[in-house]
Amino acid sequence: MNKNFKIAVIGSGTMGNGIAHIAAKSGFKTTLVDINKNQLDKALSVIHSNLDRQIKKNIISLIDKENTINNIILTTDINDCKDKNLVIEAIPEKYDLKVSLFQQLDSICHKGTIFASNTSSISISNLGNQTKRSDKVIGMHFMNPVPIMKLVEVINTMHTSSETTDQIIKLAKAMGKTPIQCNDYPGFVSNRILMPMINEAIFCLEQNVASKEAIDEIMKLGMSHPMGPLQLADFIGLDVCLDIMDVLWIGFNDSKYRPCTLLKTMVSSGLLGKKSGRGFYTYD
Ligand code: NAI
Repeated sequence: MNKNFKIAVIGSGTMGNGIAHIAAKSGFKTTLVDINKNQLDKALSVIHSNLDRQIKKNIISLIDKENTINNIILTTDINDCKDKNLVIEAIPEKYDLKVSLFQQLDSICHKGTIFASNTSSISISNLGNQTKRSDKVIGMHFMNPVPIMKLVEVINTMHTSSETTDQIIKLAKAMGKTPIQCNDYPGFVSNRILMPMINEAIFCLEQNVASKEAIDEIMKLGMSHPMGPLQLADFIGLDVCLDIMDVLWIGFNDSKYRPCTLLKTMVSSGLLGKKSGRGFYTYD
């Protein structure tokens, strides 16, 4: 993969900073864009500490860290995406927000720029249809935490060209990831299966079937899951979980996907999991 391939990542939250980290570490000049300057500074400091952790574990050297940081450009100006080969969108899981961003990007970026969305569940076809380049729109669904998790779920629409898919597969491999393809359908594969499980665990808690610790331990010890579903929900963000359940519920028009009331109440109370300091568990 040509290292002159220029990447922009939009949104520097949980996922965006991880995607920028691995893109820059793989040698690509990476522009990280956010509307919030404080969030950008926070993202850079998270990248610094994640790289330091990798140095301590002898995964990378100090020079690798310096090169990675030098490959990252921070900006609040979306116009800086203009000349990029690829823009990866990682803004919140809100349909209207993503639609207006894709429309804006379509008018800013040169004709050849590929648009990838890291959405957990929103229709890539709908996003592509907001642009005049639906053949260059694709899903590139990284997993959390991005520097560690191997999978990239690559989501093709009926319009995505094979050239676009090939580029994204090559890029994911160049980033040290394992890309696996699927077609555009609500929740794709990963979240169509994962989120109803998390939602069901929250129903178990709401109905007092067991304590949160017991629910998590049962799934860890009984199913060999590395982390229980409630703790995983905290790590993903309860707001993100609720947004995905809403997409499944609306997308399939099937009540089996209705989000648990406890999940909705926690999100409206600002208990979003690790990022807010409190979800099912509390965090420093
Ligand atoms: P987050 O809430 O941590 O970060 C979103 C960032 O986007 C914030 O920094 C915000 O300031 C910024 N932003 C909002 N509107 C913007 C705009 N118009 N232009 C530029 N920046 C903007 O969200 P998170 O968790 O990183 O999720 C991002 C996407 O990744 C969502 O679509 C989510 O579904 C998906 N995803 C999340 C995973 C997770 O475990 N959190 C896992 C896989 C995918």
